[in-house]
Amino acid sequence: MDKIVIEGSYPLRGEIRISGAKNSAIKLMAVPLLTDRPVTLTNMPRLRDTRSMGGLLEHLGLSVEQDGDSTLKLHAPDLAGTEAPYDLVRKMRASFNVLGPILAREGQARVSLPGGCAIGARPVDLHLKALEALGAKIELEQGYVIASAKGGLKGAEISFPFVSVGATEHAMLAAVLAKGETVLMNAAREPEIVDLADCLNAMGAKITGAGRSEVRIEGVASLSGTTHSVVPDRIEAGTYALAAATAGGSVRLTNVRHDHLGALWPLIAQAGARVSLDDDSVLIERGTGRPNPVDIDTSAYPGFPTDLQAQFMALVGLADGTSIIRENIFENRFMHCPELIRMGADITVRGREAIVRGVPEYVGAPVMATDLRASASLVNAGLAARGETHISRVYHLDRGFEHIEVKLGNCGAHIRRMPDEEG
Ligand code: UD1
Repeated sequence: MDKIVIEGSYPLRGEIRISGAKNSAIKLMAVPLLTDRPVTLTNMPRLRDTRSMGGLLEHLGLSVEQDGDSTLKLHAPDLAGTEAPYDLVRKMRASFNVLGPILAREGQARVSLPGGCAIGARPVDLHLKALEALGAKIELEQGYVIASAKGGLKGAEISFPFVSVGATEHAMLAAVLAKGETVLMNAAREPEIVDLADCLNAMGAKITGAGRSEVRIEGVASLSGTTHSVVPDRIEAGTYALAAATAGGSVRLTNVRHDHLGALWPLIAQAGARVSLDDDSVLIERGTGRPNPVDIDTSAYPGFPTDLQAQFMALVGLADGTSIIRENIFENRFMHCPELIRMGADITVRGREAIVRGVPEYVGAPVMATDLRASASLVNAGLAARGETHISRVYHLDRGFEHIEVKLGNCGAHIRRMPDEEG
């Protein structure tokens, strides 16, 4: 297993091109399950998670062909089977979303439950209720969901009790080929939902309202193929913007949809960095001096994303004052706190709140990546720290950040990947 070693205290200067969004790409990869025509995805990130999803799709009989660096060609004239086994689903939770498309296409599916994960229980009850509302018969057996819809899925009204990105996407994927109209109420409004709807609509689906709380889907009999460009990754962009704000320097991010991070920019500016928004690029600059304290409260889009909470904490951990960080989406998403504390941070966690008393500096230390976004906060803290930080369990980072050491290295970061004898 690899580790990342960072020698900190070098400001970042340069340009970083943002990749396609992981969270969109892995859902878009389920789309070809709904058609016998080819689907080509461009602006695809090359990540551990997209490789895991590719492996599952190949198991289901799809041809998965990488064409150059960022194009993926997917084609499923027929499916080889209707089962997604535990070994393939457990690697990545979002692969559970193949259930709806397989069910829509074949009338039956057997998909392993994804299980919990480090940031909380993360159940799939809303996914299953949505599929049941669409007429599926669902049984749970030995860790698997066995779903059937002999006469095909039927449009329905589905009102989510709270906002779920995954359940909204799953319901959309299942409803596009259902008979009649489906209305999703209290749907998630994330840009990745709009990206999925755009791709499906280009294939002949009839989805309106994606990006709003009420989404309408008029079922169609079949879908054609398409070529679709994956939306830029707002979480990767936010992570590098926060890296520049934390380590100091001047970084231009390109291939960015900065309108997708409307909740972040004013807070970075409040912390003391300069943010200049251009057409599809953003310039972040921060000079010397400590950041200002800033409170944040995570919420569903368009609120402050939970996926940037850990990285924001690494920034305000150095502030001249105290910040309160409240996590409202996941019940256990403060695992980065003990690791930041190892680097000298002063943080107290009380339930869903972290009280972050700013310290003048971080000091490099051996730390452990615990989940994908938490690992990114340790990288950002390491960039600012005095001395060397060793981050082990880098596979978490590789799930969601393409060439992180190369992108940051090009901006002058002293960062390298090396084998971890202890990992
Ligand atoms: C997606 C993102 C993840 C992000 C999260 C919230 C992907 C691959 N992952 O995760 O990076 O942090 O949105 O923006 O896109 N819940 C239930 N029952 C369900 C479904 C969810 O109780 O059936 C709960 C979850 O445990 C969580 C909350 O609802 O507390 C929101 O989860 P959800 O929006 O579904 O997140 P994901 O789609 O898993």
